[in-house]
Amino acid sequence: MASVFSKDFFAGISFWKTLLAVGLVLYLILIPFSNIGNPQLFLIKWVSSSSPSQPDSDFSRTNLSHIAFGLLGSVKTWPHRRGYLEAWWRPNRTRGYVYLDRPPTPDLLPWPQTAPPYRIVDNLSEIFRNVKPRFELMPRMVHGILELFREEHDDMRWIVMGDDDSIFFVDNIVDVLAEYDHTKYYYLGWHSESVISNYWFSFDQAFGGGGIVLSYPLAKALVKDMDGCLVRYAQSSSADLITMTCIADIGVNLTPHKGIHQVDLHGDFSGYLSAHPKVPLMTFHHFDAMDPIFPNKDRFQSTRHLMKAADADQSRLLQQTICYQRQSNWSFSISWGYSAQIYERIMPRSYLQMPIETFRPWAKGPKPPFYMFNTRPPSNNPCEAPHVFFLESVYKSVSGDEIVTSYLRARPRGLPACSFSGNHSADSISTIQVFSPAKKRLQTDRCECCDIVRTDDVKAQIKFRECKIDEIIA
Ligand SMILES: *[C@@H]1O[C@H](CO)[C@@H](O)[C@H](O)[C@H]1NC(C)=O
Ligand SMILES: *[C@@H]1O[C@H](CO)[C@@H](O)[C@H](O)[C@H]1NC(C)=O
Ligand SMILES: *[C@@H]1O[C@H](CO)[C@@H](O)[C@H](O)[C@H]1NC(C)=O
Ligand SMILES: *[C@@H]1O[C@H](CO)[C@@H](O)[C@H](O)[C@H]1NC(C)=O
Ligand SMILES: *[C@@H]1O[C@H](CO)[C@@H](O)[C@H](O)[C@H]1NC(C)=O
Repeated sequence: MASVFSKDFFAGISFWKTLLAVGLVLYLILIPFSNIGNPQLFLIKWVSSSSPSQPDSDFSRTNLSHIAFGLLGSVKTWPHRRGYLEAWWRPNRTRGYVYLDRPPTPDLLPWPQTAPPYRIVDNLSEIFRNVKPRFELMPRMVHGILELFREEHDDMRWIVMGDDDSIFFVDNIVDVLAEYDHTKYYYLGWHSESVISNYWFSFDQAFGGGGIVLSYPLAKALVKDMDGCLVRYAQSSSADLITMTCIADIGVNLTPHKGIHQVDLHGDFSGYLSAHPKVPLMTFHHFDAMDPIFPNKDRFQSTRHLMKAADADQSRLLQQTICYQRQSNWSFSISWGYSAQIYERIMPRSYLQMPIETFRPWAKGPKPPFYMFNTRPPSNNPCEAPHVFFLESVYKSVSGDEIVTSYLRARPRGLPACSFSGNHSADSISTIQVFSPAKKRLQTDRCECCDIVRTDDVKAQIKFRECKIDEIIA
């Protein structure tokens, strides 16, 4: 009975369905024509709402005073790491603290004026009364965000968290963050350079030593649920992973920025620093774990040396600029404020932008890829191996409109000339001088161009300028 009924019932339905379908087809065919006459008749016009998401134009541009820095350290590491923070910290101008695991021992007092003021981290045993964390240190690091926010929320737009061996380039940080709307939810950072680290932890997390950047609303939301989040993810083995996981729970994901560097690398970092991605340099980490970045200087001297260029012009720091000397078939590659290289043949920009693999990964997987970027192997081929020069000095020109950086040969190359391109040896060049405008360059859509203005037996002089409209660098 039920089945007969349903059969008839569905037969009836399919009749109406057919009728409806025919009607719909007619409707769709006719609608474009009828619309010409009177669009309001069939369609509701899409009216965009009065765009409430525009940043309030009353806001002043973000400056250093709007950024709070939280640096996670320990009494044990402080004596040999404070030099990294002191290299970039601007007393009475940068806001924030270094967080210590316990009160500083008497030999560390009085606390230096040149360093960030210190705070002792909270005792979290109350939060973990019932659930024990897998590693005590991990939630403590995440909780640092709350401890910083608690003190520095007035007129604060961004929180930047790092370690006591993080090196921050604050002018660039300000300029980069000023481009983002700080009233929105942002989580900025970048992954590890070593593929395996991202695989072990997450491809979607900011690595903390390189820096974790949170906009005010995100920091506020994270702080509000801090206890809950630390308990939920108490079993996690990584502070950065807990941070990402809690931020994901707020509905926010990573905005990657290639100027932030965890530096999960060992050995000689110069290959990477000579071919930095074309974005403003924001941070470095782990200088302790690598060779000093300049020859004949220790790690702190090296850091301070790089800061001389950073103090002159952070916007160009490590930006790679390439030009060619046709008469000798040479390619010049300048990593502003750090290094210069001469190759004895013409090489495309895309090729020179690949770092020479002078370094090793932090941890090596069983087989390549080891890095999150392409590399070139070091070579003893005279047509492949560069002559290498490192920053010696930074001056302002007498007229004040140019900065002159000089780069000194690091060592003899010890190879014959590249015969394929005409045997033009660059062995005698001992100095490369670079003239760049004494004006910040915030444009990131295109690199600068350069001209070789003069070369003699021992010196090459190069002048930076904007590329011409259709200029091809080749
Ligand atoms: C930063 O901007 C604020 C306005 O939000 C202004 O009061 C302050 O003077 C500025 N600070 C610096 C160092 O420019
Ligand atoms: C920072 O400010 C304090 C008090 O305002 C002052 O005593 C100190 O000398 C300043 N430090 C530096 C390095 O300017
Ligand atoms: C943290 O507080 C608990 C009691 O609330 C105490 O037993 C413990 O010793 C404290 N830890 C430190 C490092 O002060
Ligand atoms: C530059 O190199 C090319 C081969 O790549 C060669 O044909 C040319 O003669 C060289 N020019 C000079 C000036 O040596
Ligand atoms: C470069 O020098 C090598 C060895 O001196 C020679 O064999 C070769 O022919 C030279 N090449 C050119 C293009 O002059």
